[in-house]
Amino acid sequence: MGWLSRLGFLAVVAMTVLIVVGADSQLGAHDGATGIVKERQQGMVAFKKAMKTWKLALDEPQGPTPETIGEISTQLSSHAGARLLGLYPENGPTKHTDASPRIWTEWAEFERLANALEARALALATVDIDKSVLRSEFKAIGGLCKACHESFRER
Ligand code: HEC
Repeated sequence: MGWLSRLGFLAVVAMTVLIVVGADSQLGAHDGATGIVKERQQGMVAFKKAMKTWKLALDEPQGPTPETIGEISTQLSSHAGARLLGLYPENGPTKHTDASPRIWTEWAEFERLANALEARALALATVDIDKSVLRSEFKAIGGLCKACHESFRER
């Protein structure tokens, strides 16, 4: 390989790395977040994806299938409740996070919202597969996301 084609090869490698790393940060994970902070942000990204799938299905003429609603229920409930709460230890990491310190001074409220999300997500698996019911559930769950972010997320 001549030096020119070697340079070309290196440029391709560098671009590939850029694309891969770029794609990752588009998901919303904070650069440099590791361990428990990364884990809780990934859980949140899973919430976001589930809500997007739900919204898109609601926009379809036939609405969401029971399978889609079942998957959304699982995705939301499996990252909520105790699972979510366990990722916010007191005196935990403070870097690369948007978590507000109010989480630990108003823990009861944070806990209530995390548990309400789990309960509502589990109940979703049992509701009628009816567009208007699913739309109002979407709003109720979206309201829990919003309520928690307003009080406990800083950005
Ligand atoms: C109990 C509180 C709580 C609930 C409920 C909650 N969030 Fe969050 N969310 C947070 C906190 C705190 C952060 C900041 C986490 C961090 O940076 O360490 C966050 C961050 C996020 C992020 C950014 C993740 C990243 O990559 O930095 C997204 C996206 C998100 N939440 C979506 C959702 C959606 C969608 C829902 C509802 C299905 C939801 N959240 C419910 C507390 C909550």
